[in-house]
Amino acid sequence: MKSSKAVAFGGVLLVSLVVAACAPKEETVVQPEETAAQVVAEPVPGPGVLTAVADLAAATGGTAQGRVTFIQSGDTVDIEAHVSGAPAGSLGFHLHETGDCSAADFTSAGGHFNPTHAAHASPTATEHHAGDFGNIEIGPDGNGTLQLSTTMLSVAEGPSSVVGRAAILHQKTDDLNTQPTGNAGARIACGVVALQPGSAPTGAPVTPPPAGQ
Ligand code: CU
Ligand code: ZN
Repeated sequence: MKSSKAVAFGGVLLVSLVVAACAPKEETVVQPEETAAQVVAEPVPGPGVLTAVADLAAATGGTAQGRVTFIQSGDTVDIEAHVSGAPAGSLGFHLHETGDCSAADFTSAGGHFNPTHAAHASPTATEHHAGDFGNIEIGPDGNGTLQLSTTMLSVAEGPSSVVGRAAILHQKTDDLNTQPTGNAGARIACGVVALQPGSAPTGAPVTPPPAGQ
């Protein structure tokens, strides 16, 4: 008993001495800069602007061609289409659900891409197919350009991804009303949307590894 009390007392004395010894150093305040370095860095997009491209090729006997570019920034996809060799006028332009332009009339591309099960309408309407891009104004020289932005699509993998879909230019004007096609007539140019190589964020696979199944 006595000896253990003595040890306990000695311990208290030791602690007291240590505290006393440290006391004068309290003036040395830890610099707050040490926490500043812990601020979480913004995700660096780097080369990782997600881009996908569709090269439009004409139907048999046609001359319309073009290129559609999809660039994803955050939740928004900016779409830009350039068409040449097309008949002058306002021509329906959509993203169709199946990336297959193999049929002569491009019906292999299926219907308008519509992951939200909305009705066909203008891209500026409150609700519309995600693939409703409205019309491209084609000038007398056969050239036309369309630019629009949407949050209904992604370039990244997911249920609303444009990759593996088909961009299609029509022979007639999309009336933005007739269900489910806009009555835009024949399909005169088609292109499968493919992820642009090297556009994925650093560290993310550009293409999924072979499934081996
Ligand atoms: Cu279409
Ligand atoms: Zn539609």
